[in-house]
Parts: sequence; structure tokens; C-alpha cells
Amino acid sequence: DKDPRINGIKTTIRVVPDFPKPGIMFQDITPLFLEPKAFKDSVDIFIERYQGKNISVVAGIEARGFIFGPSIALAIGAKFVPLRKPKKLPGEVISEEYILEYGRDCLEMHVGAVEPGERALVVDDLIATGGTLCAAMNLLERVGAEVVECACVIELPDLKGRERLNGKPLYVLVEAH
Ligand code: PRP
Repeated sequence: DKDPRINGIKTTIRVVPDFPKPGIMFQDITPLFLEPKAFKDSVDIFIERYQGKNISVVAGIEARGFIFGPSIALAIGAKFVPLRKPKKLPGEVISEEYILEYGRDCLEMHVGAVEPGERALVVDDLIATGGTLCAAMNLLERVGAEVVECACVIELPDLKGRERLNGKPLYVLVEAH
């Protein structure tokens, strides 16, 4: 029942212990981008899942959501909206603070980029504690959009980030322990 492409994607992910801080097992997805077949497979699986779902906006989270989000948006005919770290967007923004696995941060979105009633997909590379995806969903819901689903390449299920998403569906390609 599992997609045969998933294992090829999973084998490209490199785990780097103690990065960026002691105790963190960093999931490095850069080797995925060195394997065009596996990289394309990862994007294709998302496209197959989300085309025909009436999604009008793909919101990508800085930084690695920017690597996957635009390809999905172009393929399904949706717009792409970057959710950025503070003080990067030049226009008027709304902000959401969140607690990270290692520190705290904030995401911002341009006012006017997403309109009330739009159907949104949130894309990132990884869910750890879920704080980042939660902040992203809050930004979209504050402007009246409906978050259809969150999509990530990797989930760290032991951190139970999924439970922080208030029942919102989360789709992941790979679970890492
Ligand atoms: C990582 C990852 C997610 C977030 C997940 O980003 O790419 O965006 O952490 O963590 P959470 O589920 O506990 O919120 P990071 O903070 O390393 O920022 P970067 O993408 O700017 O490097």
C-alpha cells in the first residue's frame, strides 16, 4: 500500500547528530536535491495528492518550504505565498511568534497576498514540535483562508507535533525516529 517511491526518498535523508546544537538530530534534506529522480518523486507525490483539490494558494515556510512549495503551486495552478522570517518582507505584514525545538522565532506574511475564503496548502520540509506549522496556519486563518492540509517531507513523530495542529490534516512522506 505504501508508495514505492517513498523508500528512494527516505534513503537520501542524512541525519547529522548535534546540529545545530547538542542533542539535536538534524535531518538534512540537501542530499535529496542531488538525486534528481528522488527529488522529482517527492514533488510529484505532493502534486498527485493536491491537484484537483481546488487549492488556490500554496504557502511555503522559509527556508526549505521554498524548495518544495513553488513546484507544487505551479503544477496545480495555485499561487505561491512565502511565509518569511521577521523583517524580510517589504510590504505590510501580519506576524505570528512561535517556540522552536531550538529557540523561538516568528513568521510573517504579506497583507493582501491571501484573501478570505481561499483554500490553502501549507508546505515545509519537516515537522518537529509543530510550532512552525501552527504559526503558519494561524497566519492563513487570520486572513480568512481555509487551510486544507499541511504537507511535509519528514515528520519526527516522537515530538508529537501532529497533536499541536488542532486536528488539521498533516501529510508526510517519511517518518524519522
Ligand atoms: C526547521 C524546519 C521547520 C521547523 C520545524 O526550520 O525546516 O521549518 O524547523 O520545527 P517545529 O515543528 O518544531 O516548529 P528551522 O527552524 O531550522 O529554520 P530554517 O528553515 O530557517 O533553517
